Formats: sequence, structure tokens, C-alpha cells
Amino acid sequence: MSSAPFLETSLPAPLDAIATPALLVELPRMESNIARMAEAYAAAGVALRPHVKTSKCWEVARRQLAAGAVGFTCSTPEEVDWLLGQGVPDLVWAHVPVGPAKVAFVVDAVARADRAGQRLAVALDSVAAGQPLSEAALRAGVRVPFVLEVNTGHGRAGAEPGKVPGRARELAALPGLLLRGVFTHEGHLSRYVGDRAGLERAGLGAGTLLASLADILRTEGHTMDIVSVGSTPGATSAPFAEGVTEARPGTYVYFDANQMRLGSAVLDQCALTVLGRVVSTERPGVVVTDAGIKAMSSDAIAAAGSVGLVCDVHGVPLADVEFSDANEEHGFLTGPGTAALKVGDLVRIVPNHACGTTNMFGTLHAVADGTVVERWAITARH
Ligand SMILES: Cc1ncc(COP(=O)(O)O)c(C=O)c1O
Repeated sequence: MSSAPFLETSLPAPLDAIATPALLVELPRMESNIARMAEAYAAAGVALRPHVKTSKCWEVARRQLAAGAVGFTCSTPEEVDWLLGQGVPDLVWAHVPVGPAKVAFVVDAVARADRAGQRLAVALDSVAAGQPLSEAALRAGVRVPFVLEVNTGHGRAGAEPGKVPGRARELAALPGLLLRGVFTHEGHLSRYVGDRAGLERAGLGAGTLLASLADILRTEGHTMDIVSVGSTPGATSAPFAEGVTEARPGTYVYFDANQMRLGSAVLDQCALTVLGRVVSTERPGVVVTDAGIKAMSSDAIAAAGSVGLVCDVHGVPLADVEFSDANEEHGFLTGPGTAALKVGDLVRIVPNHACGTTNMFGTLHAVADGTVVERWAITARH
């Protein structure tokens, strides 16, 4: 005997019928985010390779491809495996693959991509990471394409700019590897809260620096098919530097409260919300919902002490209501505006960081005109 999936309502359904906490995407907003970014890069002749970690959802990814994305950026082997299986033509795994399991995965995945006429490149920034990959590639008889990661200011992985020519020479000399270009994640732009002009200058600076390094590498005889920048705060600046060939924004597909604080988006562009419900008003001064850390994620980058932006069921921010703290399954709302909230009320919360919030859910509810119209799987979580 088959039974209905746990707590699943038949669709279409009003928001009130959905078990909370639930992840919602406002379809018209998402579709407009996808279209606007695709149009801006098409007009500039820059390829768009969105980061798939933001959605991990094929229904979102296929819309990005349909709008002109050349392929995707991935952060995990699970994402690479999933998108190869979906037949996506061109992937960059923008994370250095270290350790025997990941090295073996890369060699298999590149062989699989070669057989299927797909392309996959991985990130490298050191000989220590490149050497085992080179040896495994030689043993398997494949050539692993790679992009050299450059630190343009974020200070995460990536070769320092001054070391890039030497590093490219060393890595390109390793047999079994094939240098295709350079990339950077200009994540340091998230530090420019309240200084959009400074952010735009720094974004353009990161793109210009990367392109100038690619020029130097070309004069040394390297092929530089890919000169790739990537971030949502930098999406309006870095890709437009002369010589940059592609952009890899991820968060833009939904935007979020962090991007609002950075001036990358306004509320009307924020497509992702967590639907929560007030479950207790017993404690004076605190309204408790069922959307806690395991719904929102704990990513508080640039968040100034808030777990997310609390809105009513129509997406209008609730005045004088703060999402000030959370336990795993409980969210704590404070502020004078909470006096109007009753047990059973629905709230919609714009997360600080859409990508982290996505990873907390297995299902994404697509919403149009206040109605849940489709239910989509979120894939490749880990
Ligand atoms: C390598 C890389 N590329 C692109 C992105 C996308 O940046 P954003 O989330 O700001 O859109 C990220 C985000 O972490 C990243 O790490």
C-alpha cells in the first residue's frame, strides 16, 4: 500500500497548508534575476557560469541554462557528479581537489566527461595539490584540465598574484594536466558594507588584476581560454574588466539579506524565503517560531546580529521585529512589533545567506501569486 509522502500537501496549495519550516522560492523574482544577469553578460560578451551551490536544484539550473549559461561552477564532487549526469556541457569545480578520494573522483569524472563530450576543469593553486592529480591522470591515461586559482584579495585559497607566473609554469609542466586559464573569487567584496562605490572599485580592480595576469601568462605561451571572476557583490564590476571572459555569480539567482546590506539587491529581488510559524508567545518579549538554525543556517556574514529579515506572509518586512537569536528548531523574534504576532501566524524570513539556507532543506517550494505551485528537489547536499 502506498502512502502520501510525509507531511506533503497536494498542489497547488496556499502557504497556510504547507508544513513549516519550509523553503520557498518566489518564481517571478527568480526568473527575473536569471534573465537580468544573463542579459547583462550577453550584452558585454562575457560568458555566465553560475555557481550551482546556491540552488542545488535542477529546476533552477535548467532555467539558468535556458537563459544562456554556458555551464556551472561547482563546489563539491557531489555537485559535479550530479551535473555531469544531467548532461551539463561545461563545468568548473572551483575547489582544489586534495586527498586520494577526490583525486580518484576527478580522474574518473574527467574520463566520463571526455566520453560524453562534456568539459570539466578543476581548481589548482599549488604543486602539492597538482602532483598527485598528475600522477593519477597519467596512470588513468587522461588529461585533467585545470584553472589556476588566484588570490585577488579574498585571502582564501589561490596563488598570490606575484607567484602566478611561476606557479603556472610549474603546474603546466606536470604531465597529465592541462592549463585552461585563471580564476578568482572576489569574496573580499563582502567587506564593503555601506560603501558601494568602494566595492565597485575593488571589484573592477580584482577583474583587472586577473586579466593582467592572464596576459602575462599568454606571453609566456600558456593558453588562457578561461579568465574567470565570480561573486554576486562583484557581478556588476569584476566581469566588465577588459580581458575577463566569464562570470560565476551564484547568490544572484535568489539574492538575500547580505546582498541587500551590500547594495547588490533590493528586497523585491530576494526570491528565497523560509516560511515559519509562530509556535509560542509564552515568554514576555520573545515570540518563538519553528524556524531555527536548522532552517536558516547560522551564516551571519555581514548580518549585524540578525538571523534574517522577518516579513509577513506577503513578503512585507514586519516593522520593529528582529530575528535576534535561534536554537536548532526555534527562532526568537524580539522588538516592539512582535506584540502583534499570535501563535499560528506565518512569517517569511529572507535569509542572510541564501546558499547556506538551501543546504538545510531537501525540498524547494515554488511560489507564484501566494500559492505553492510546484515542489522541487534540492540535490547534492552534504
Ligand atoms: C569559487 C566561487 N565562485 C563563485 C562564487 C559565487 O559567489 P556568490 O555567492 O557571491 O554569488 C563563490 C561563492 O562562494 C565561490 O566560492
